[in-house]
Amino acid sequence: MSTGWEDRAEGLIAWARKPGHDAYWLYRDSFFELVPPPGRRTLEIGCGEGRVSRDLRDRGHAVTGLDAAPTLVAAAADADPASEYVVSVAESLPFEDGSFDLVVAYNSLMDVEDMPAAVGEAARVLESGGRFCVCVTHPFRDAGRFETRENGAPFVVTGSYFEEGTYEFTAERDGLTFTWASRTYPLASYMRALEEASLLVEALREPVGFDDRDRRMPQFLHLRAVKQ
Ligand SMILES: C[S@@+](CC[C@H](N)C(=O)[O-])C[C@H]1O[C@@H](n2cnc3c(N)ncnc32)[C@H](O)[C@@H]1O
Repeated sequence: MSTGWEDRAEGLIAWARKPGHDAYWLYRDSFFELVPPPGRRTLEIGCGEGRVSRDLRDRGHAVTGLDAAPTLVAAAADADPASEYVVSVAESLPFEDGSFDLVVAYNSLMDVEDMPAAVGEAARVLESGGRFCVCVTHPFRDAGRFETRENGAPFVVTGSYFEEGTYEFTAERDGLTFTWASRTYPLASYMRALEEASLLVEALREPVGFDDRDRRMPQFLHLRAVKQ
């Protein structure tokens, strides 16, 4: 499945740049608690229009943002001329081994064509002892759906948690519409990719959300791994 981000780039720019519009603004503080202080050089893979890279920059990181969608990279560079933005794919990073001491993947590992290859590349471009900080949609949340939007609605898994799959849904909020299309993985798929890349998980969080559904069921999984 192609997740077609270039085709949907303008929609994502509008969606992501409206402050407070989506879950990023609620969960970013929890994520940045896991992110080490600025070091030598930080890479964000799947940077999109650049909001996470700009937040890293604002925290003092020397950021390179990378994304496969040229329109998103152009928008990120326009909004942050002092940082470096690169069009490339996460599965084949255009950087030397050990170029970074921090790699961030914020809601992008579900979107790349080959998640284990992207994790392997993140490890390759990290120096020894470097950190890999990740946010993904929570594997258990991706495995099912709430039956209704009512408080207390049952969360139902009709397929199998263990099967890797895809999903697509269109969200409408405050006059904006965006179609999300992505992949789902059980937790063990992410862990296997990290293990095979010699990335040791040293911190993992399931941040509690802000409404009935997100207080009962995690929406995101945050983790930090260290390169052995
Ligand atoms: C959900 S968006 C996340 C953007 C940004 N990190 C954020 O949180 O606002 C996922 C991003 O991954 C990018 N992406 C998908 N496949 C990719 C690949 N193989 N290599 C690099 N980027 C990719 C998409 O173009 C898109 O910008």
